[in-house]
Amino acid sequence: MRHLIGLLLGTEEDWPAAFETVLRRLGPIKGVGGFDVERITIEPFDLRAGPRHELVIDRLAYWYYHPREWLKKIAMMDDVYLLNSPFTFQSMEKHAAYCAMMRLGLKVPETVLVPYKNPVDNARYAYTSERYNRAFDLDAVAEGIGYPLFMKPYDGGAWRGVSRVRDRDELHRAYDQSGEMLMHLQQSVEGYDAFARSLSIGAETMVMRFRPDEPMHDRYAVDHEFLSPSVGEEVVTVGRLVNAFFRWEFNSCETLVKGTDVHPIDYANACPDVALTSLHYYFPWAIKALVKWSVFCVATRRRPRIDLETHDYFAVTGDYGERLAQYRKLADRYFEVDRYEEFCRTHLGHIDEVVQEWVAGPDFDRLLVGTVAATYPAAERERFTEHFRGLLRLWVKDQNC
Ligand SMILES: Nc1ncnc2c1ncn2[C@@H]1O[C@H](COP(=O)(O)OP(=O)(O)OP(=O)(O)O)[C@@H](O)[C@H]1O
Ligand SMILES: [Mg+2]
Repeated sequence: MRHLIGLLLGTEEDWPAAFETVLRRLGPIKGVGGFDVERITIEPFDLRAGPRHELVIDRLAYWYYHPREWLKKIAMMDDVYLLNSPFTFQSMEKHAAYCAMMRLGLKVPETVLVPYKNPVDNARYAYTSERYNRAFDLDAVAEGIGYPLFMKPYDGGAWRGVSRVRDRDELHRAYDQSGEMLMHLQQSVEGYDAFARSLSIGAETMVMRFRPDEPMHDRYAVDHEFLSPSVGEEVVTVGRLVNAFFRWEFNSCETLVKGTDVHPIDYANACPDVALTSLHYYFPWAIKALVKWSVFCVATRRRPRIDLETHDYFAVTGDYGERLAQYRKLADRYFEVDRYEEFCRTHLGHIDEVVQEWVAGPDFDRLLVGTVAATYPAAERERFTEHFRGLLRLWVKDQNC
């Protein structure tokens, strides 16, 4: 029996090539069958046509709507398993996640949504705003939150329109510039001890120390002990909770850790960064997790879910610690963590060795050299090739410890 996985891609080459290689090298899986991967092309589709794919990893639908509508069709009509489903991703942006997480009692900083600065492009706007938009005092809103604060779009992404606002002048400048974007004003978490960025793929999460001010290749530090075990667990729980709550299966979550407090500030990333040149050391983990979760979902015929069971989460009571433990149980249940781990043990026992051998060998090196060549100008290629080679060698070495 053969299973077909589809990749819906934009401009990326590195991780798709890695995913294809690892799946091929893994070979047929006992009791499950063989896996093929195909890059999906964009063409007219009949709404009643049956798709050939059992699972699709989507990296495109967040901006390209024709394939997005194809994804919605195959989810709604054919039960194809999606990482991620546009039904939950496009309707639930950062703002919705803030709301849910606040209701669940997480430590999201104080946040206010202010109306558009510029008129909305709609013939009805002038009349409506004249009648119903209430004049408001932006300074008073900002003072209520306290300076410094962050002004950022309610749906976020790639730092677009994000500014740190220190006083009235900066406040008005930032708001004037926001134009047609809808903005949150958010209390700043000042003097945090660590910025933890977690990448979650299905039932697995990697929490990484993030340095937002560094250039791309240096943002993720290789650091295995930057959080205490209990804070580390809490960060994993927060990410898994957000993901289970919204059915997001390939997502990143940002939390600022100050003392023992974990403040979530950013989630809902439909296309999280998995570039070899930014994840470096963590890249093999990401590829393994993607392969394992995809194979698990197909092999166990995991049921795609587009319904949310928000009330199960909202019904949880107790203090912060007790609630967090309950949320973790619900989230683990959604991701079938035990079943996933058992499946990986019995069917994918060889993946560690396969990936290690591949990363240590010439195939991976070719991918690395090609990716660096596509990412950096000629004068910097040698330096970056050596930089990433060193980090990947470190990964291989760490696997043997
Ligand atoms: N409340 C906050 N307190 C402190 N720093 C913040 C806060 N909100 C945002 N920042 C800083 O601003 C950056 C961008 O904000 P945010 O992550 O919310 O926007 P984004 O556009 O989704 O960014 P990206 O998609 O690149 O992660 C954060 O990585 C963080 O460094
Ligand atoms: Mg962010």
